[in-house]
Amino acid sequence: MVLSDSDDEKWIYREHTAAKHEVYQKYLTPWTYKLSSWNDKLRVIDCFAGRGSYVRAEDCSGAQLEEISAPTELPGSPQIILDRLTKHSDKFEEAEAIFIEANEENYDELDENISETAGIADNISVNPIQGEFQDKVLDLVTTDGSDCPTLFFIDPFGFKSLDYDVVTEIGSTDQFEILITFMSRDINRFLENEDHRDALETTFGTPDFIDEVGDLDPENWEPLVEYYTDRIEGTGPEMTFEYLITEPETRQTVYYLVFGTNHPNGLKTMRDVMNICGTGNFGYAPKIPEHDRKQSGLSAFTTGLAATKEFLVNTFSQYRIEFRNMVEMCYKMRKYEDDVESDYRKAIQELESEGQVEVIRRASKTGGTGVGKGDLIDFRDDDDLEDIG
Ligand SMILES: C[S@@+](CC[C@H](N)C(=O)[O-])C[C@H]1O[C@@H](n2cnc3c(N)ncnc32)[C@H](O)[C@@H]1O
Repeated sequence: MVLSDSDDEKWIYREHTAAKHEVYQKYLTPWTYKLSSWNDKLRVIDCFAGRGSYVRAEDCSGAQLEEISAPTELPGSPQIILDRLTKHSDKFEEAEAIFIEANEENYDELDENISETAGIADNISVNPIQGEFQDKVLDLVTTDGSDCPTLFFIDPFGFKSLDYDVVTEIGSTDQFEILITFMSRDINRFLENEDHRDALETTFGTPDFIDEVGDLDPENWEPLVEYYTDRIEGTGPEMTFEYLITEPETRQTVYYLVFGTNHPNGLKTMRDVMNICGTGNFGYAPKIPEHDRKQSGLSAFTTGLAATKEFLVNTFSQYRIEFRNMVEMCYKMRKYEDDVESDYRKAIQELESEGQVEVIRRASKTGGTGVGKGDLIDFRDDDDLEDIG
């Protein structure tokens, strides 16, 4: 039997819900902080907002709110958004929080939960809307690149409302970023089911998805999410990044969080956040050894730095490049390597001490060994070669 979206069974707070909320919470902080430094107005749209509360938790506890108080121990994404925006409300002039929810009962509960939530900063406007994401969202924004920075959380229960055209239109817009819950488990289950054909065609934006996705191994559904990210990168956001969420007790994938952005710094920030969330190696997957932070950290310690140095030398040997630009390019080229900015810094410091690069300290203290934003890294043997950035 198919459960209604307002059935209490669907509102149990599980470990994978907590894992998703961890990413939401941790990304909203740097996103708000960075974008408010050069924009007066920010907007967050929770496209599948839910009820703003859960009925009970199983083996985990609810998200902790710091700044606001909600009438529930188990708040949903709307309160997480309001809490993080409130925390940084001194940095922007105004922020808009829009919550779209289609189900009438869930919407009524959300509306009540939000009206009973106290402590929201005065410069945040709160706008709950009842309706379907795919019908409403494009009327709320301008997609010609002139609109304010907007972060979209796209978190359906299944996949039937994940409209490819709408997702790619917002995803391709400058200053807009999307974080999609891509329900791999359900999609995998129904991939060849006639009854779900139209919905899947809407999700992937093509009738050819079965042939194009290739062979799926029952143990490994990664090609499915990769096919989806390839599809949306074609017309939507320039860059994507995925985060795996499995069941806590098995290796079974529940969903991926798929992030899309048009800005290298957005990719870098989300990647850094996803690196510190969950169990490690860009995922919450307690039963998969590659996602065990302790094990992956150990291998990075023993072999990682040498590989990073080799990559840098091979990639940039003909260039002089600004440090932060270099890190952003590395994040794009080596999306799923463990390295974060501090690892690239360490690699450059070692290469400098070995005489393989020259560091021109325009920003860090001259005479020191620090390397940071603004400093130039010269990989060239010969001064006449190219500059990037
Ligand atoms: C996974 S839940 C959202 C949970 C919420 N984001 C959170 O983290 O607390 C999905 C919600 O989307 C609602 N919904 C289903 N179809 C929708 C649509 N087309 N547009 C907007 N909301 C929809 C459902 O009623 C449900 O409340």
